Parts: sequence; structure tokens; C-alpha cells
Amino acid sequence: MYSKLVMEHFNQPRNVGYLDNPSVAIQYGDPACGDCLLVFLKIEQGIITDMKYKVMGCAAAIATASITSEMSIGLTVEQALELTEKDVVIALGGLPPQKVHCSNLAVGALKAALRVYLAGDREPEAVINAGH
Ligand code: FES
Ligand code: FES
Repeated sequence: MYSKLVMEHFNQPRNVGYLDNPSVAIQYGDPACGDCLLVFLKIEQGIITDMKYKVMGCAAAIATASITSEMSIGLTVEQALELTEKDVVIALGGLPPQKVHCSNLAVGALKAALRVYLAGDREPEAVINAGH
């Protein structure tokens, strides 16, 4: 039911891990189901130069986190804020309809981290919750 690319990212997720000295780090969770991401961003001169994450979730959540990290590294903060879950789903070659909401998790976490960064609140403990 998953595309080949989804399975490939699920089996070998890119950029998993932590950053030692992130520009911003947040936990982004979904209280409705317990799925959650820890996101670390390195931002230099307005450009995302690194993104790492730890994700708890289904195959779709893992694959979307992986491809979101690939898509966001190299973008400016402004460009990354324009990424949509639809962009991510298209880049993955589609998701089963009942799994599209799982793509909210990674894109939502990325944008929440960027908003925390832009607000100047770079405490690693920032916790953002989002329903879906
Ligand atoms: Fe919970 Fe996909 S992350 S079902
Ligand atoms: Fe929670 Fe899909 S059920 S993200």
C-alpha cells in the first residue's frame, strides 16, 4: 500500500539523530495518538544547513520525516515555511489516503521549530503540541 519510495525512506530514514549544538530544538507531539518528533535545526545566515530528528510513529510518519529533512536542508527559513504536507506527499510518490494526515507531523514539526527560532525562543525544551 506504500510507494517504493515511502518504503525506502521507512527502511533507511535519512538524517535521523540529534544535533549537538542546534539553532533550535523542539518536541512536537500529537496528543491524539502519541506520535511525536524531536526536531533539531541548524540555521546559518538564514539557511537550514542541517536537520536531524527522532520520530515515533508509523511508516508514513517516518518516511515523511526523512524526506522532509532532505527537502528542507539547503532551504532558507522563508522557503521552508512554505513547504506543505502536500509537497511532501507528492515527493514521496503519494501516501494511502488514510495516512496522509501522518505527513502533518514532520511538516508541522519543521514549521513549529522555525517559528520558535524566529521568535527568538531557542530553548531546547520548547514543546509544541498539535492535533490533527
Ligand atoms: Fe500515527 Fe501515522 S504517525 S498513524
Ligand atoms: Fe497520529 Fe497519524 S494517527 S499521526
